[in-house]
Amino acid sequence: MATTIVNPLREGLRLARTPEPSTIVIFGGSGDLTQRKLMPALYNLALQRLLPGSFSIVGSARQPLTDDQYRAELHDAVGEHSRTKPLNEEVWKTFAEHLFFVPTPDDHGYDALRERLDHLDVELGTNANRLFYLATPPGSYAAIVKAIGVHGLRGRTGWARIVVEKPFGRDRQSARELTETIHQVFREDEVFRIDHYLGKETVQNILVMRFANGIFEPIWNRQYVDHVQITAAETIGVEERAGYYEQAGAMRDIVQNHLLQLLALVAMEPPAAFDDKAVRDEKVKVLRALRAIRAEDLPDHAVRGQYTHGFIEGVAVPGYREEPGIAKDSRTETYVALKGFVDNWRWEGTPFYMRTGKRLPKRTTEIAIQFRVAPHQLFSREASAGLDPNALVLRIQPDEGVSLKFGAKVPVQGIRIRSVNMDFDYGASFMVDAPDAYETLILDALRGDATLFTRRDEVDQQWAFVDPIIAAWAASPEPPYFYEAGSWGPPEADALIEQDGREWRKA
Ligand code: BG6
Repeated sequence: MATTIVNPLREGLRLARTPEPSTIVIFGGSGDLTQRKLMPALYNLALQRLLPGSFSIVGSARQPLTDDQYRAELHDAVGEHSRTKPLNEEVWKTFAEHLFFVPTPDDHGYDALRERLDHLDVELGTNANRLFYLATPPGSYAAIVKAIGVHGLRGRTGWARIVVEKPFGRDRQSARELTETIHQVFREDEVFRIDHYLGKETVQNILVMRFANGIFEPIWNRQYVDHVQITAAETIGVEERAGYYEQAGAMRDIVQNHLLQLLALVAMEPPAAFDDKAVRDEKVKVLRALRAIRAEDLPDHAVRGQYTHGFIEGVAVPGYREEPGIAKDSRTETYVALKGFVDNWRWEGTPFYMRTGKRLPKRTTEIAIQFRVAPHQLFSREASAGLDPNALVLRIQPDEGVSLKFGAKVPVQGIRIRSVNMDFDYGASFMVDAPDAYETLILDALRGDATLFTRRDEVDQQWAFVDPIIAAWAASPEPPYFYEAGSWGPPEADALIEQDGREWRKA
């Protein structure tokens, strides 16, 4: 159902500021990401009247398309992928009038793009404020950034910013080189590296939970927390992305960015202000404190897996090596489990267990803070048999909410204790549909707010943590452990946590 309600949670988080008149230039303008995520997000922003009055979107790609062809293509894509349905044709019509396409197969194309942008500034009053969006395969990033510089695509007046999709580099070195290339054209404060997890309402709520309330912070440390579990489980397989995924694997695809960002938000110190510098300064301190996993410790701290054929929700699915485009002897990991430590005053000795995988039984992303048991056991062992340790679970998706698990007396004669849940459910409490992460992030980039984007030192530390693990796995003669599609990963991942006397939560 179409909605024009602005999410109250988000309003409470930061004061909304309407973006200034501007143009978004999307490279990869008719690609998959644009069709499935960017355009639906932009259309929904238009629907909520959150885009500036003077605004244009210029798509660009190698192949030729007219403005009308482009609009027709996107009409269908947005109709299919928008979170609000059906498409509001009236809003679409106005929105589409601001949509243009300029092919950039060569230098002439980039010159034509500059002329078109200059012309649109005059026609629409967009003041040469330009947001460039790199939505192409990463192999093209450097060439496009250089072309933006060489062909003078930044306006002579106005601001310029660039949004860069993940993966940002494929290791620490290449990420540094990409940053250097970008810095030849854009200053660091003009670079917006996207990690779409940060745009999720429930991920932003980690900060609100922790820092808008007084009750959690005093116990948010090694004295009270036994360990933390971060899970990002997917039921989908590699889909149509063999080319990308074979090169990436779960470590580069999810752990390096989404999981480490979740860890940083959970473990960071309270920032002095809610702004891009203060928040990212604190996150990067956590990432720096993340203990490197040494080669000799790898087997006890990191497990990789690959799915074989199995069943998801009763439907037979092929194994990873049987998927189209995947090598028959591929060693790419589709599952990772890790034990990490944040070596600082607050967290010393507290394990952060992380796991992610494709073709797991259930789609769920959650962070569980598991607390230590009560210091003194007042009740008998028998009475407490049904009691699990206290846990605060932040459910990121799909069943968004927060629950607190604690022991309660079973209403029978005598003492018997059982774990129960106190639950907060987003849908029931707020009665609005949360915006898509891309709506939030595009709007923030248009406003110049980089708080929910990854700074170069964060990316650098994230690679510093995963690079040695990836290198050790690449050098190992052993393939990943296999797990059946529809299972919770290889048994070795259970052993990783069970060797510490703990177990994965039944998500
Ligand atoms: C992307 C990964 O960044 O995140 C995908 O490239 C993954 O492989 C996706 O499926 C998961 O995102 P979400 O928002 O569905 O949890």
